[in-house]
Amino acid sequence: TRTPVNVTVTGAAGQIGYALLFRIASGQLLGADVPVKLRLLEITPALKAAEGTAMELDDCAFPLLQGIEITDDPNVAFDGSNVALLVGARPRTKGMERGDLLEANGGIFKPQGKAINDNAADDIRVLVVGNPANTNALIAQAAAPDVPAERFTAMTRLDHNRALTQLAKKTGASVSDIKRLTIWGNHSATQYSDIHHATIGGKSAVEVVDDEKWLTEEFIPTVAKRGAAIIEARGASSAASAANAAVDHIHTWVNGTEEGNWTSMAIPSDGSYGVPEGLISSFPVTCKDGKYEIVQGLDINEFSRARIDASVAELAEERDAVRSLGLI
Ligand code: NAI
Repeated sequence: TRTPVNVTVTGAAGQIGYALLFRIASGQLLGADVPVKLRLLEITPALKAAEGTAMELDDCAFPLLQGIEITDDPNVAFDGSNVALLVGARPRTKGMERGDLLEANGGIFKPQGKAINDNAADDIRVLVVGNPANTNALIAQAAAPDVPAERFTAMTRLDHNRALTQLAKKTGASVSDIKRLTIWGNHSATQYSDIHHATIGGKSAVEVVDDEKWLTEEFIPTVAKRGAAIIEARGASSAASAANAAVDHIHTWVNGTEEGNWTSMAIPSDGSYGVPEGLISSFPVTCKDGKYEIVQGLDINEFSRARIDASVAELAEERDAVRSLGLI
């Protein structure tokens, strides 16, 4: 029998947590033959709600689920952790300035980064979902100097998946016919969904779409503003689709991308494509043997360059802001 993988989920009692935990316990995160132990981290007032979710997990009798631990102590939650999904974050409330938001999240992600540094397993992989995800990942990473920097990633897979479906709907293709789509930059309204290297059924996506107005005025903004549209329609923010993307992100990182295709992950830049080194920015990546690599050598036209630069400039501003707050 295989040793169980320790998966830590923060914000476990929240709405993404509720959609995510059952997927993990059923084997969709790592594979149908990989047993898991769950560690749920919550703030003290939400521990009881987390216990309720754990009762439901018990009631599913998942064969792969070998244990659930619930705690409000990050040192316990990340002890021996192999995969950490950092979902719990401080949302922006009315009248909150960006500095306040970053500071509040620094209060969450800095101690969690330190707890990962001090307690996690050597092969720890971190995905930050809680917003502002890219910068929260940077804060956690800075607090974990003993963990290889590339283990800290942030989620743009939801944007990637959203873009796939918008493109499929426009062209009548199926999502699985679409390859090599890219989300660049920040998981925010400045993100850039790029179809210039994408193919649909083996043909150039730009040629199949053949509608530049749709690309600039509909596709890119629809994907970027999808989160707000979901809130407007559902009366609550995306949860099941966010959980699904988190599962996809880790599954792909561990199990690899398919031959001839890539995915989008926000990862520490190595300077590729003019993105300043160290910024946690979304790139086209391939994954193999549990490691990711930025796809190199893509031609970036003027249209794409301007959009990538704008999103990366926002990331640099966020980094400068958390630096001046002493969070990194
Ligand atoms: P939620 O408010 O339902 O749940 C958040 C949970 O985190 C709450 O139960 C709260 O008690 C917990 N929490 C707060 N501080 C914590 C701490 N220090 N340690 C452990 N737990 C803590 O929120 P929801 O809907 O589950 O969303 C979570 C985050 O994911 C939000 O920041 C949201 O903006 C973000 N998000 C990111 C997406 C992406 O594509 N990157 C997509 C959708 C949401």
